[in-house]
Amino acid sequence: MTLLEVKDLHVSFKVQKKLLQAVRGVSFSIHEHEILGIVGESGCGKSATAKAILQLLPKHSTIISGEVLYQNKNLLRNSDAKMQKIRGKDIGMIFQDPITSLNPTMKIGDQIIEGYLLHHKIAKRREARDYAIRLIELVGIPHASLRIGEYPHTLSGGMRQRVMIALALAAKPKLIIADEPTTALDVTIQAQILELMKQIKEKTGTSFILITHDMSVVAGYCDRVLVMYAGKIIEKAPVEKLFESPSHPYTKGLLQSIPRLDMDKNHPLIPIEGSPPILTEEIKGCAFCNRCNVSLPRCKEDTPQLEEINQNHLLACWNKNESSN
Ligand SMILES: Nc1ncnc2c1ncn2[C@@H]1O[C@H](COP(=O)(O)OP(=O)(O)OP(=O)(O)O)[C@@H](O)[C@H]1O
Ligand SMILES: [Mg+2]
Repeated sequence: MTLLEVKDLHVSFKVQKKLLQAVRGVSFSIHEHEILGIVGESGCGKSATAKAILQLLPKHSTIISGEVLYQNKNLLRNSDAKMQKIRGKDIGMIFQDPITSLNPTMKIGDQIIEGYLLHHKIAKRREARDYAIRLIELVGIPHASLRIGEYPHTLSGGMRQRVMIALALAAKPKLIIADEPTTALDVTIQAQILELMKQIKEKTGTSFILITHDMSVVAGYCDRVLVMYAGKIIEKAPVEKLFESPSHPYTKGLLQSIPRLDMDKNHPLIPIEGSPPILTEEIKGCAFCNRCNVSLPRCKEDTPQLEEINQNHLLACWNKNESSN
């Protein structure tokens, strides 16, 4: 069942008297009990999409249009006060850098207890404390009843990230948006944290939007994937289909340019030549056209829309014959 639906989302930032079009008409749904990956190069609009959903972008310099439907309501129309109730309780968020997101002056247990009590007003503190201990155990921190008395700075980076996940889970949200949650961590810890998110999905039914630029993360942990390029979704598919038959020339390029765990050690990495378009300028036709080696004359003029090429596999490309080979 659909948990949240984003319809034709546009996000522009006012930058020195110009408008930077960070998100240019993005539509997707997140279902119950799934991990949806959003992948794409730096600057393609992943975080802007995530932050727009939760209204976390600076109001004075951002123009947002479209719909974010959650329980039959458009979140984009909500007041700050209403959004504050939804953030944490219904939709949680895990950021890249836990040290700036955790309160350094508060014991980690108290932060989780507060998160729980904020959204479960009739609960007793004792009950909230027991819950905090269970959560800290769930995220794999040993000696939880002792650890809840510690401050964030006494924990390692990996542990802090686990605390962030516990904090995000505290109010039992239906959806957690995790924006590059493991980028700052070493590979082993990264795998542990991602595995944990997968287990949480299985155990609690919580859905995740997992934002990453790492295709191996997508392959290992996501159920479905959106590939973004210059503010648009250019391919959308269940994860097996994306890896079995990547169809957009950009997706193929991404797969060839990034080392993946499933790749042969000697497999050469081929970077995608060129760079994405300047987002403050008008983009005509397909934004990937000038970097694409199978482009057609019409790609310069008309913007391709996402169309189903196979069951649940959508592609925005004019050269469907070439791209799906
Ligand atoms: N608050 C802001 N003010 C102005 N421009 C912004 C703001 N936030 C993002 N941008 C611009 O919007 C575009 C999309 O940014 P976004 O942060 O969504 O990228 P991203 O896909 O998350 O990249 P990364 O992988 O580097 O995190 C970029 O060109 C960025 O410079
Ligand atoms: Mg980002």
